[in-house]
Amino acid sequence: MLSVRDLTVGYGTPLVSGIDLTVKPGEIIGIIGASGIGKTTLLRTFAGLVPPMGGQLDANFAHRGEVGYIPQRLGLVRHASVEHNVGLGTRATPRTPPNGWRKAYQWRAKITREAIEAMGLTDKTREPVRRLSGGQQRRTATARTLAQRPSLILADEFLSELDVENVEMVFTAILRLVEEDRTALVLVEHDVERALRYCTRVFKVQDGTLTPVSGGEEE
Ligand SMILES: Nc1ncnc2c1ncn2[C@@H]1O[C@H](COP(=O)(O)OP(=O)(O)OP(=O)(O)O)[C@@H](O)[C@H]1O
Ligand SMILES: [Mg+2]
Repeated sequence: MLSVRDLTVGYGTPLVSGIDLTVKPGEIIGIIGASGIGKTTLLRTFAGLVPPMGGQLDANFAHRGEVGYIPQRLGLVRHASVEHNVGLGTRATPRTPPNGWRKAYQWRAKITREAIEAMGLTDKTREPVRRLSGGQQRRTATARTLAQRPSLILADEFLSELDVENVEMVFTAILRLVEEDRTALVLVEHDVERALRYCTRVFKVQDGTLTPVSGGEEE
């Protein structure tokens, strides 16, 4: 799914190097580490948004939409509605809509509605994103990725600004996707306890390297 060997990431100067990691279908990988250490840069490199400074990065996907990226800065269309933003996920999906304009439209509408519901945002469907709270905006970005149904989700602090109940709700939806589709998840998380609770393997970025914290026995 995603495989890196001796990877170096950074902008001009290396931030993290010697990274060896293989992500398998259905895995949930957590990445923790101090602020400014290079977690977002690492995730952006995995997403193909930052060129690697060295080493090997293999992400063999037939379709661009196989990788879903939930950025730390959410990249939502702020003046547009929740519905519109989540609908964009269905545009990026690697799956093929049914034939015919009307059927494809209904298919997109259904997937969009279900993703919005899974994130508890049904009553905000028509609301412009800029009028939502921070946590609601984060859930909109997550719904957009759920609607995309990628094979690999790269999520950057997507649980921040959420209270305990909302974290549970978001994770229930994510776990359903992981179970049904064998979706793999790599998530950057500042909350160490949360990472240990939800992830199958956890790594820490420290001293310019990526070190296993838990779950490393599988490899
Ligand atoms: N586009 C960029 N060009 C050059 N340097 C950058 C760029 N983006 C980030 N940096 C630098 O790279 C370093 C790591 O940033 P990064 O965003 O990866 O950290 P982080 O671990 O995600 O931090 P946080 O937990 O605060 O989100 C920082 O020193 C930052 O200033
Ligand atoms: Mg970051």
